[in-house]
Amino acid sequence: MRIIKVAVLPGDGIGPEITAQAVAVLHRLASQGCFSLEMDEAPVGGAGYRASGHPLPEATLRLCKSADAILFGAVGDFSLDTLPRELRPEQAILGLRKELSLFANLRPAIIYPELAGASTLKPEVVSGLDLLILRELTGDIYFGQPRGVRTLENGEREGFDTMVYRESEIIRIGRVAFDAARKRGRRLCSVDKANVLETTQLWRDVMTALGKEYPDVELSHMYVDNAAMQLLKNPKQFDVLVTGNMFGDILSDEASMLTGSIGMLPSASLDANNKGLYEPIHGSAPDIAGKDLANPLATILSAAMMLRYSFDMSAEADRIEAAVRKVLADGLATGDIDRPGSKRVGTAAMGSAVVAALGVQ
Ligand code: IPM
Ligand code: MG
Repeated sequence: MRIIKVAVLPGDGIGPEITAQAVAVLHRLASQGCFSLEMDEAPVGGAGYRASGHPLPEATLRLCKSADAILFGAVGDFSLDTLPRELRPEQAILGLRKELSLFANLRPAIIYPELAGASTLKPEVVSGLDLLILRELTGDIYFGQPRGVRTLENGEREGFDTMVYRESEIIRIGRVAFDAARKRGRRLCSVDKANVLETTQLWRDVMTALGKEYPDVELSHMYVDNAAMQLLKNPKQFDVLVTGNMFGDILSDEASMLTGSIGMLPSASLDANNKGLYEPIHGSAPDIAGKDLANPLATILSAAMMLRYSFDMSAEADRIEAAVRKVLADGLATGDIDRPGSKRVGTAAMGSAVVAALGVQ
């Protein structure tokens, strides 16, 4: 039987509660003979800092390097925000992305019929929505050098960061985006700010040239400010969006709200060989941590993406997604997706319901 080696990094805040539910889902599939699971857990983020003085401890990084895939909860801990930047919890996820070359971030935004009323947008604007944001994840202003805060001759401080993309980095994410569009609606919208920024003029030129190799995919370009507006005005015009690291960070949070709750959105961050890190796109939500209130569905759906992208097990991924649809159709809801007539449950009960929906086999 296929052995799948998964590193589990629960992290901070609600991270441990939600990953526990995704792990239970993977265990259920393993017990049904779908695969044999080798799983190891390690601290990361604030938990990593508390355990060994660094948000991404050496041993955690080693475990991630030796695993086939990583299931990641969330990092972030306000009480550590006064630490020097390199020791803050968020550095763990940035470090993992960079160390493992996880350059392709897939953030699908799908609306489940039961949740069309949970969005702050009108149901007719969002119902049936199914879009995929492809965010470049290891370049751009997030990692560009130089960066810092310097003191000018007059004593005033000045902060600076560098937005930078190499052609090869744009081509590499572009290929993933065109390939993804081919498997979906064959429409790709590349988002940039070519009217102002040199880096993104290059982005647009490279995407346009690459598009010639994909004549079957309809390529369009949009400035990021317009894209932010169009996502609210008419989100269903989009099939696949591809963009840089910073624009993708912002647009994917915006897109999550179209679906009703950020608690529903999974993500995959892949390297060139489909090794991946899978995480919900939401954060560590310290305000509700440890209270059995968090929605575990984004993490459970991230585990489904793991099976699909890193292990090529689409049938098993489909089964998890069907189980999630079933619990939503049964009316179960955590607080973030509570709606008239729904049955309010906690994190653990929601996870157990998904496990139960997978049947016994
Ligand atoms: C995300 C998060 C991260 C990012 C933070 C936690 C560093 O917002 O994954 O979208 O900015 O990429
Ligand atoms: Mg973000």
